[in-house]
Amino acid sequence: MAKATKLVIGNWKMFPTTILEAKKMFTTFKKQRRNDVGVTTVICPPLPFLEPLKKSYTGTKIFFGAQDVFWHTEGAYTGEVSADMLKSVGARFVLVGHSERRALGENDEMVTQKVRASLEAGLHTVLCIGETTRDSQGHYLRVLRDQIAGSLRAVSKAQLKKLIIAYEPVWAIGEGNQAMTTHDLHQMLLFIKKQLIELYGKTLADSVPILYGGSVDETNAHSIVYDSGVDGLLVGRKSLNPFTFSTIISEVSRKPARVTKK
Ligand code: PGA
Repeated sequence: MAKATKLVIGNWKMFPTTILEAKKMFTTFKKQRRNDVGVTTVICPPLPFLEPLKKSYTGTKIFFGAQDVFWHTEGAYTGEVSADMLKSVGARFVLVGHSERRALGENDEMVTQKVRASLEAGLHTVLCIGETTRDSQGHYLRVLRDQIAGSLRAVSKAQLKKLIIAYEPVWAIGEGNQAMTTHDLHQMLLFIKKQLIELYGKTLADSVPILYGGSVDETNAHSIVYDSGVDGLLVGRKSLNPFTFSTIISEVSRKPARVTKK
């Protein structure tokens, strides 16, 4: 993923209930979009809606992604879906290790297999990481370091090209929570980069886009991206409202005002 463009991903989670509603949401969203200069937009709908949405809207500049994947290519794994299957129905991106999946029992070992399988299949793979809580002693940093190392354990340097990291502190996700401050996010960005450098070296680490997720909305999107230095956003709730999600993309597309030197 070229770092020159910002990446905004909408994660619809398990909404809406029907394909009709999904099509309506997507049509409304698409009508809002004009010229997303400098922004790549991705929507991750529930899996049964991915192909119908993709099929009815070929030719748009919006990419589609899945919310999960399994690590085997095929086999007797009831209910699972492989990376190649996702690709064959039009997914170009996939989220792996979202905190809501980790809360359902997914561990780093499963996540690293999923990341590897997705990268091998050529999908842009969004590895989600983030601490559940913070403490004043900084233990959360160790948690995060272990999570990064564990989630990438099976991933070699050669496979890294399409990796994207989404840093989503779990305490900032969902109703009633607040996005992290841009100052703190900048610190975390440096911390995550340092972990990637230790694992893969500076050049490769620098090529991995790092996104932020957790209570992103139309009022904070611009400052989160341009004040903290992240490469884009992973948006949950606010991606379900086509107008709000569209405004978020416009905000990210709006370049920050230049500070003129005196
Ligand atoms: P939120 O969710 O934007 O609703 O906080 C983010 C996420 O879970 O990816």
